[in-house]
This record gives sequence, C-alpha cells and structure tokens, in this order.
Amino acid sequence: MTISRLYLSNDTSSLAAGAGRLAECLREGKDVQLIHTSSRGAFYLEPMIERDGPTGRVAWCNVTPDELPKIIAGTGGTPIESIPYLAKQTRYTFSNFGITDPLALDEYQARGGFKGLEAALAIAPGAIIQELTVSRLRGRGGAAFPVWSKWQAAQQAESDEKYVVVNADEGDAGTYCDRMVMEGDPFRLIEGMLICAHAIGATKGYIYCRQEYPAAAWAIRKAIQKADEAELLELNGRTFSIEIVMGAGSYVCGEETALLESLEGRRGVVRAKPPYPAVAGLYGRPTIVSNVLTFATVPNILAKGGAWHAALGTERSRGTIALQIGGRVKQPGLVEIPFGMTLRQVLEAFGGGMAAGSRFKAVQVGGPLGSLFPESKLDIPICYDAFAEAGAILGHGGIVVYDQETDMVALARHFMAFTADESCGKCTPCRIGSVRGREILDLVQSGCAKADDLVLLADLGETMKTASLCALGGRAAYPVLTAIEHFPDEFRNKLSAFSRQS
Ligand SMILES: Cc1cc2nc3c(=O)[nH]c(=O)nc-3n(C[C@H](O)[C@H](O)[C@H](O)COP(=O)(O)O)c2cc1C
Repeated sequence: MTISRLYLSNDTSSLAAGAGRLAECLREGKDVQLIHTSSRGAFYLEPMIERDGPTGRVAWCNVTPDELPKIIAGTGGTPIESIPYLAKQTRYTFSNFGITDPLALDEYQARGGFKGLEAALAIAPGAIIQELTVSRLRGRGGAAFPVWSKWQAAQQAESDEKYVVVNADEGDAGTYCDRMVMEGDPFRLIEGMLICAHAIGATKGYIYCRQEYPAAAWAIRKAIQKADEAELLELNGRTFSIEIVMGAGSYVCGEETALLESLEGRRGVVRAKPPYPAVAGLYGRPTIVSNVLTFATVPNILAKGGAWHAALGTERSRGTIALQIGGRVKQPGLVEIPFGMTLRQVLEAFGGGMAAGSRFKAVQVGGPLGSLFPESKLDIPICYDAFAEAGAILGHGGIVVYDQETDMVALARHFMAFTADESCGKCTPCRIGSVRGREILDLVQSGCAKADDLVLLADLGETMKTASLCALGGRAAYPVLTAIEHFPDEFRNKLSAFSRQS
C-alpha cells in the first residue's frame, strides 16, 4: 500500500476555515501520513492541502471532505509556485510558513534556523549592534524606532539584571502576523530573543501574549521546552529563561510601558517617558520591549548580514513588511513584501480587488488609530515616511477595506468609543477627550448636532493629539478627522436640519 504524505495547516486561521474537519477525515484513513504545518496566509484558499510533487509542493485549495480521495490519489492540484498570491511575495520572516512542522526543531535548523544565533554568539555584543545599525531595521510594533539604538542603550546601561520582553499583545483589529509567527514558526521568535539577550546581557525573557491567543501560547511553550532540552537556551554558560505571561485583553497593554506595569502585576496604566524601558523598564531594569515580528526579523539579519537587510525596501524603510489584508477584498490574507509598493498595487495584486458586490469606499491602515483614506489616497507608497507625511501610520501593517455599505459617521463613532473604552485613564486629554468625542459623534449620529460641533470635534482632536501621554490619545482623533475630511457630506447630511439651513 502506498502511503500519501499530505501537509495540512492546523493553525487558528486554517481551523476556522475548516481544516479540522479535513484532518479528522484524513486520520480515519490508513493510507495517509498527515503532517501539520502552519498556514501560508492565503486565507481565501484555505483549507489547503499540499503534497510533494516532482518539482515541489502541489496544492489543492478550498478543499471539501468529498475531494479527499482525489487528493490521496494525487489527481489534479496546482504547483504552489504558480499561485500568484504566493509567487509575488518576498518571504524571509515567513519563509517557513506552510513548509515545516512548526514544532520540529530539526526542520527549523535544516532550513537555516539558529544560524543567526550561532553568528551572534561568535561575535562581541557591540558587533551585533553594529550589524543591526547596518541593517537599518526599525521596530515593527508601530512606532518604527531604530532597533540598534534601543539595544545599544540597554547594553550600555549598568544593571544587575536586564530583560527581554516580547510584545505579543497584537491588539490592532485586522492584524494577526504575530500570532502566525508564534503558532507557525516559534523557534524564530525564540532565536531572536536569544540574540537580543546575548547582545544586551539579559538572562530573563518574557512573552506578553494576548489572552485570545491560546494556541499561540501553547505552541511557543512547547517550542521553549524543546529549545531548552536541546540546550539552545544556554548563552555562553548562562541559561536564558523565557516565561509566557497572558494579558487580560486590554488594548492599552500593548503600549510598552502599560505592558510593563501589567507584567509587574499592576493595572495596565501608561508610564511617562523618559526614562525609556531600554534604560529603566521592567522592575526599573534595562529592558528591550519589542514586537514579535521585530525579534523574528533579527535571526536573518545576523545570519545573512545587515547589508542584506538594508538592500531591501526604500530609503528610510528597509527590509520587508508584513501586511495583513482584510475587510471587503476578494483575497484576504498575510503578505510579506519589501517596503515600497503603493496601497493600490497591494490591494490589486494581493487583495485581488473588491469582494463580489462591493465597491471601494475607504481603507484604514494601522489599526483603530489609523487614518481613514478614500480612493484618491491609494497611491501612497507603503513605507513609514510616506505614511507619516500623509498624516497616517503603518502601525503593525493591518489593512482593512470598507465598501459602499459603510456608514462613515458610525465608523468614526466606533473608533472614538473604542478609545473611550480602552483609555488607561492616566492623562486627561485621552480619558476625558475620548468620552467628549464620543458624545459629539453620538449627537451627529442622532441628527442633533450643529455645524459648530464638528469644529469643536476638530479642536478636541488637536488637543488630544498634542497633549496625550501616549499614542492612544494622541492618535484617537485621526480616524474621526480623516473621515470628516474625506467624507464631509456624510457628516453634513446628519447635522440637525436647523443647522444645515443656517
Ligand atoms: C495604545 C497602543 C497600543 C499598542 N499595541 C501594541 C501591540 O499590540 N503590539 C506591539 O508590538 N506594539 C504595540 N504598541 C507599540 C509599543 O508601545 C512599542 O512601541 C512597541 O512594542 C515597540 O516594539 P518595536 O520596537 O518592535 O516596534 C502600542 C502602542 C500604543 C500607544
């Protein structure tokens, strides 16, 4: 009897698309060897089954149980490299997705895993930071701060203890690449943490993971265990220990200082900066708080060299970016490409255009604090500076597309209400401003607002922008003000009849 070796993702997104049912059916058959991988991130093709073909993997997409006999027999299928969505990407950080068993350490190593750590351990900490300087890597969590600069500050700080903290809170709506790294390639994150620990001299690491990610926490815990058993957590004679701490679902706990408060067991309230965490972070000690993706990008930089990374992307945004396309597009999913394509090109090449029956109305990039843009803004190149110039943020790379059914006033109200709910309450502009902003938008929504209320809203937004302690208050007005700027008629039409005449 020939055994068919089939690859099927069992990560959260694939299970949501029906991969679990397929796995159950396949396990019933005796002529199948089922290998679990992570998703490749082309969600519109899930559930997807692959097998080895003469020149590479062959895939069956949107598989239903009745198609399994055909797949087991090897009939049909599409060569993976001929799927444009995947072929057009430049995958470095996500290069193992869909290919390896996420918890098979030998498979990770066979594909170059732990080569970055090996290179890092062979050089002095200062040389690691030099490599990061050359790479021009900027943090992928949202603020886009140069990574070398944080690491250097932590390295140079005198302390009895230093910490490495992974920000795995991933609170932005429409983002999921951190989850995918933890579920799909957890050794890459561990390797990045180890390189950082070696560079700054830390012996303890934490992964602050949002509570909605139980599968990610499970996978990373298993991977830590395996790395420990393989003695990979030994750094020049010292053991680096890693602990996973689950957050309790507060958006502001993704902000690095609120995260540290939460990690220390207190309510997640933002700290005033300076001092910055790199100098005085967890328990007042030098701490690198960085995003999952930032750590996951580091191993390749050490293995291939900083210049390799700096050669990708645009002048001030080097390397690749993880875009997570969602909303009313035909092809939602994860994309890794060098910085520089325009939003329009990305939505066409990867999003596949609008979903059936939908017409484009607006797009929001960068989560709930991101600006709302109309079609005329789609030619902005995807890089930090072009977005900053346009008054927008790339954030964590989430792109959510809205169609003609979207009520922009209701959407703007939703985002202001979100800030009012999630504000930590420490600074007045955010705590009070978001509530007042929501109230004004309620007035607009109910047809009771006057034209002056929109002026007041803009004024309030300015105060929140300039006087808030962190970007939650600082950016809360952007979705609202950009919605008013680009869709003024929707707001004007909802003003009270008296106000419209006057
Ligand atoms: C309200 C708010 C929420 C945030 N949420 C996250 C988050 O979920 N994940 C993240 O990595 N960074 C988040 N950040 C950014 C962090 O404060 C910090 O800049 C980041 O963890 C630094 O990592 P990086 O250097 O790798 O970008 C948030 C910031 C704010 C103001």
